[in-house]
Amino acid sequence: MKKRFNVLVTRRLHRSALDELGKRCNVSLHAGKIPIPKKNLINKIRDMDGLICHPYDIIDKEVINNAKNLKAISTFSVGFDHIDVNFAKSQKIKIGYTPEVLTNATAELTIGLILDVLRRISEGDRIIRNKKWNQIFGAYDYTGTEVAGKTIGIIGMGRIGIEVAKKANGLGMNVIYHNRKPVSKSIEKMLRTKYVSENTLYKKSDIISLHVPYNKDTHHLMNLRIFKKMKKTSFLINTSRGKIIDEKQLVTALKKKEIQGAGMDVYEKEPIKKSNPLLKLENVVLAPHVGSSTKETREKMSAITARNLLLALEGKKLLYSV
Ligand code: DGY
Repeated sequence: MKKRFNVLVTRRLHRSALDELGKRCNVSLHAGKIPIPKKNLINKIRDMDGLICHPYDIIDKEVINNAKNLKAISTFSVGFDHIDVNFAKSQKIKIGYTPEVLTNATAELTIGLILDVLRRISEGDRIIRNKKWNQIFGAYDYTGTEVAGKTIGIIGMGRIGIEVAKKANGLGMNVIYHNRKPVSKSIEKMLRTKYVSENTLYKKSDIISLHVPYNKDTHHLMNLRIFKKMKKTSFLINTSRGKIIDEKQLVTALKKKEIQGAGMDVYEKEPIKKSNPLLKLENVVLAPHVGSSTKETREKMSAITARNLLLALEGKKLLYSV
């Protein structure tokens, strides 16, 4: 009989994915507080061969050191900044992730946030619910900003950046971008986009959308110094990782009208605290880290996450390996 693996899953996946795991593994599914408190994680992971985790589970050296049997980590995400990848690899632990399948969903949410904050959709929803509709009948009350003809500056022209550029084209926007290095001329042509320096992007964009991974080079990439370079009428959109923005300085910039608004799906601390000053600002649209959260995409992510873990435990090549 084949050996059964012990695996910890930090949050429920789709039934089909859990069933798939169940064929080869004894699955311990964390059902309590989310994210799983570090103490529980350290206790539970002790005898595990495999771990399925999520972006808010911090899989650092301490956690990995407590998991002497651990052979594989499979994260339900494209981002893997929550895992100490170098340390895990030094312990010969394989790491799987879920790129590609969430590209469109995340790009759609990005466009959703752009339209929402520029056309003030969520703000309008609050106006109606607070029974204040009759206050906005003037010709210039409650006007938003049209996206057609505006310039979007994309920072990070990877899979998601490219998909956002395509959709922005469809909305009649001009697309400029900055990346570690320019994409190929044929992609630039297809996206009707132009590579510019970071400074040019900050100065020329009406909307800036972030699509870079989080690491020490992108930590607080967007801060007050940068917000001051941006147009006072510009908007900042973040569907990548919260710590790329200095959130405190963003609040200052929004309050002082250094920039006009922001649309965010990710935050420095998730879930955000009730006292987070962003909650008091009308010129911000907040989504609860749902870039990949569509029925279509999440089902695929569950299947890939389970498959990656099984393949790694069986010593085979993963579908997507970090
Ligand atoms: C990812 O996959 O990294 C997303 O941020 C998760 O929703």
